[in-house]
Amino acid sequence: MDAAEVRRINQEGWDRRVASRDIWTVPVSREVIAAARAGDWKVVLTPNRPVPRSWLGEVRGRDILGLASGGGQQGPVLAAAGARVTVFDASAAQLAQDEAVARRDGLTLTCIQGFMHDLSAFASESFDLIFHPVSNTYAPDIAPVWREASRVLRPGGTLLAGFMNPIVYIFDAEAEARGRFEVRHRLPYSDIQGRTPEEIAALVARDHTLEFSHTLEAQIGGQTDAGFLIAGFYEDVDLGPPPAGRSRYFPTCMATRALKP
Ligand SMILES: C[S@@+](CC[C@H](N)C(=O)[O-])C[C@H]1O[C@@H](n2cnc3c(N)ncnc32)[C@H](O)[C@@H]1O
Repeated sequence: MDAAEVRRINQEGWDRRVASRDIWTVPVSREVIAAARAGDWKVVLTPNRPVPRSWLGEVRGRDILGLASGGGQQGPVLAAAGARVTVFDASAAQLAQDEAVARRDGLTLTCIQGFMHDLSAFASESFDLIFHPVSNTYAPDIAPVWREASRVLRPGGTLLAGFMNPIVYIFDAEAEARGRFEVRHRLPYSDIQGRTPEEIAALVARDHTLEFSHTLEAQIGGQTDAGFLIAGFYEDVDLGPPPAGRSRYFPTCMATRALKP
C-alpha cells in the first residue's frame, strides 16, 4: 500500500469518526468560546494537560496554523482569544466542525483541506505559531511535516507538537482491549507492514484509520534536523479517570515546544 492510499483511508476514517462523534471531533461549546473571548481559555496538544501559557505567549494578533487540528476544538478557542487562525486538516468533516463553530459564534477562521506533509497551500514564513496536536501517528513519514512546518514559520516562530509515546505500539491491540498487555510488535510499528490487503481491510473496518508509531529520533531528532531548537517538553496520559489503562504504567503522549531560530 502506498502513502497516497494511507492518506485516503485516514481522511475517510476521520470523516467517519465525525459521524460517530469520536471525542476528538466534538466541537467546543458556546460557553467555552465566550470565556475565551473574555481571556479565560486553554488548549491541549495531548489528551489532558493544558499547554502552558508560556509556550503560547501572546496569541492576540498572531498568525497561527492549526496543523492536522480540525474538529472545532483548538482553532476556534485560539481565534476567540484573538489570534488569526488557519485550520488545516485532511478531513472535510473535521473542518466542517471548525466552520460550524465559527458560524455559530461569529469567529473569523480560515479552513483549508490538505495533507500535513505538503503545506504548499502556504507561502514560506506565513505563521508565527504552529499548533500540531497528536496527529502525526496517521502519517507514515513525518520528516516532510517538520520540514514544511519550518518553511511556513517566520524566523522566531514556534512549533508546538503533541505525539504518541511510541512504546504504546508494542502491545497486541486485541489483547489490550481485553485488559491484557501482551508485547507483540517491534518498533517502529506500522499498521500496514507485513499485512495482507485483506488484513488491512479488516483493521480499517474495525479502527477506521491506519497508524504508525515513529521513533523518538524521528519525532525529536526530526524537528532538530528541520532546524528547530527544542525549548520545552512534557508528557501526558490517556483520557479517563487517572490512572487509566496503559497510563497506569507509563505516560502515553508527549509534547514539544520547538523554536525556529
Ligand atoms: C486526533 S485528531 C487531532 C485534532 C483534534 N482537534 C485534537 O485535539 O487532537 C487527528 C486529526 O488529524 C487529521 N489527519 C489525519 N491524517 C492527516 C494528514 N495526513 N494530513 C492532515 N490531517 C490529517 C484528522 O483528520 C484529524 O482531524
